[in-house]
Amino acid sequence: MTDIVDSIPDLVARLDHARAEGKRVGVVPTMGALHTGHLALVDEVRNAGANFVVLTVFVNPLQFNDAKDLDAYPRTLDEDARAAATRGVDLVFAPSPGSMYPPGHQTSVDVHDLTRRWEGEHRPGHFRGVTTVVTKRLALTAPAVAIFGRKDYQQWVVLRRMVEDLNLRIEMRAMDTVRESDGLALSSRNGRLAPTDRVRATAIARAMRAAQRRFADGERRRVVLEGVVRDSLNGDVDAIDYVACVDPETLEPASDGSVTMQLLVAVHVGGVRLIDNMRLVSTP
Ligand code: PAF
Repeated sequence: MTDIVDSIPDLVARLDHARAEGKRVGVVPTMGALHTGHLALVDEVRNAGANFVVLTVFVNPLQFNDAKDLDAYPRTLDEDARAAATRGVDLVFAPSPGSMYPPGHQTSVDVHDLTRRWEGEHRPGHFRGVTTVVTKRLALTAPAVAIFGRKDYQQWVVLRRMVEDLNLRIEMRAMDTVRESDGLALSSRNGRLAPTDRVRATAIARAMRAAQRRFADGERRRVVLEGVVRDSLNGDVDAIDYVACVDPETLEPASDGSVTMQLLVAVHVGGVRLIDNMRLVSTP
């Protein structure tokens, strides 16, 4: 089992020691409940040259706009540390909410335009929570390289912008979404799906692939592509928060005729909110 450190001074001491030995620190920020996708991030950060990997586990209250969702979020620290050990993680940093946000804490980080739509609109305050906690995690670990999954595509674009805007000298890496064989994107939330809902959730990847096929066949009208996804999802999911074909960089609705679009989807299935995305390209 990888060592778990929960105090900030202990984390700093371990990192100072690693750096004094010439190690290149890589960080994998997570909220725990690790799955194969998280472990693939660990492998990838090593491929990026990190030889001291810190995996942070912190269910960040600031990024949950729904208290029930925060309560329901799985907390499996011991299992996480065991899983981390199988991939050679050097340290798990799992602070308490009180040490991350001590009394008197009053600073937050905001990225403006990129957070206005999609997740930002449906989860007010969510991105402020994410950008604030990621800034703190990066400040505490001061890594050479940090890695995030593209499954949270908007989050990835927002964090990349934030690191650039704040002149943080950290190499930001992203990794493609890891999927089950039936296409469902790996997520810590999948474990909350009842077996029949787990089957229904496969509609998301199917719907995105249907849009991808239409795009490859030459369809370039945003609304038509979004309609393909909605039609395909209807009947399988309980509610759709949004289906949007966007510019991959600005996250604004894509212009008709664009040579590439990022398809973003957020739905509810059996009481669980799931998000996914896919790059639409002419030759997939
Ligand atoms: O993607 C997540 O798990 C979280 O949003 C992150 C980046 C670890 C911040 O809490």
